[in-house]
Amino acid sequence: MKKPVVPNQTDAWLRLAQLKNEMVPDLRAWFASDRQRVEKFTYQAGDLHIDLSKNLINEDLIKNLLDLAEETDVLGRRDRMFAGDHINNTENRAVLHTALRRPETDKLAVDGQEVIKDVHATLKRVYQFAQRVRNGEWTGISGKTITHIVNIGIGGSDLGPVMVYEALKPYVKEGIECRFVSNIDPTDVAQKTADLDPERTLFIVASKTFTTLETLTNARLARTWLLDSLHNAGALEGKTENEAVAAHFVAVSTALDKVREFGIDPANAFGFWDWVGGRYSVDSAIGTVLAIALGPENFTDFLAGFNLMDTHFATAPAEENIPLLMGMLNIWYVNFFQAASHAVLPYAQQLHRFPAYLQQLTMESNGKSVRWDGEAVDYQTGEIFWGEPGTNGQHAFYQLIHQGTQLVPADFIAFANPAYPLKDGEKDVHELFLANFFAQTKALAFGKTAEEVRAEGTPEEIVPARVFTGNKPSTSIMAPALTPSVMGQLIALYEHITFVEGAVWGVNSYDQWGVELGKQLALQIYPAITGDETAYDAQDDSTRSLISYYRSHRD
Ligand code: F6P
Repeated sequence: MKKPVVPNQTDAWLRLAQLKNEMVPDLRAWFASDRQRVEKFTYQAGDLHIDLSKNLINEDLIKNLLDLAEETDVLGRRDRMFAGDHINNTENRAVLHTALRRPETDKLAVDGQEVIKDVHATLKRVYQFAQRVRNGEWTGISGKTITHIVNIGIGGSDLGPVMVYEALKPYVKEGIECRFVSNIDPTDVAQKTADLDPERTLFIVASKTFTTLETLTNARLARTWLLDSLHNAGALEGKTENEAVAAHFVAVSTALDKVREFGIDPANAFGFWDWVGGRYSVDSAIGTVLAIALGPENFTDFLAGFNLMDTHFATAPAEENIPLLMGMLNIWYVNFFQAASHAVLPYAQQLHRFPAYLQQLTMESNGKSVRWDGEAVDYQTGEIFWGEPGTNGQHAFYQLIHQGTQLVPADFIAFANPAYPLKDGEKDVHELFLANFFAQTKALAFGKTAEEVRAEGTPEEIVPARVFTGNKPSTSIMAPALTPSVMGQLIALYEHITFVEGAVWGVNSYDQWGVELGKQLALQIYPAITGDETAYDAQDDSTRSLISYYRSHRD
């Protein structure tokens, strides 16, 4: 494996540091002096219209950011990723989520596997199954059609499916409702199953490894609930419990042997491969719940959207390559402005889980402090992604973005056409909504001067409190409508932005060792909670004190 280039030892990095020192951000002046600015910094990829003009950039800066990308070999690593090299070196795996959305006619052989052929063979099985559930051919144990699907999974086996389900609800087949159980807090499974009809419910156990404690525990709880409820409803007469599980449980995993051990027939399981990271897997069989809810045709469009962005990332010249530009822009803010966080603000209620989805994608990928050669970094990596849909966020945390001391680059996302074109009297509510989006990005960029505040007759002593400095960077992403394809394009955009940042920082964006320690400790601590005094004594003072509190308060 090629050693990573140390980014802060490149010439481009030094020039960027100098540019940062010399830069006096003044978006008002920059817009006034260059009427071409919007045109220069607005890009199109697929259906996405992306306006970077309200960022703290100029042409020279973009050139230097692209030089940094070149010096750190971002595009070389991109090509190695697309080709199936084992760029995930700590797990010795290829990184091939892009292969999940390539057309059937493509060919790619990696480690002796005909990747595209296998992808499409699985897709066909998923689609056939989805059709059978949708058209009522697949029934529960008592012959009733399925109306409710419960996806049991966590992390990448949950966040993608639930986010896309919420985003594309207008495309969900009437008569089908999906629910998502992820948390090992028993509240989750209890509440999500409470009002379900067991005879009409299908569970999808989604787990790449099929070892995840939360998912397997929830799957067992669901199986107990199913069998108890079927017994109570008298629906199991003349049938075995195994037959009931076979009719109501399917699985998605890379570990089909473990699926069988759990009691699910591998004939009812859909596989994927170790070269698909959990947080990159919504477009694999992990999306089975979506293929059922949205239908194969919409799922195909969803995949085509990803592919469109992949092709753009793989082929567009650097100066027009949006994931490259947006990734490098994030580097600019993280490493030269010390921005610790990044807000994602969808002006689309349907995208209300998108920030949570991006948290796993970006933070599990780039929350690393050693490079892929094991050397510790001496520069900042990773960004804390967060956000809420507008306009809710405006009434909560925008204050800090507008007038706080931290620089928070923000991505605004909106669609020209709403899913529900409602009117409040004469007013088109979507237009009121979008007016807020445009107003916020304008306020962030251009602010409000003391003179402007005074001109409103504000008493002098409160003028400073009402000044907006402006020069708060934002990116505006728009598309005609939130279709399955656009959803795929958006996800792939952020996947590749994450890739670009990881490549510059020299970190392996595709492992996640940082989540392991807590999992191991939970298994060690569990006996201490349940009364094993040796395990209890082995804990540190604080942990013992918390366990004692629990023991003395548990009814
Ligand atoms: O906790 C980390 C993690 O491994 C994620 O990367 C993954 O998406 C999640 O757990 C769930 O894993 P699995 O799909 O194997 O159950």
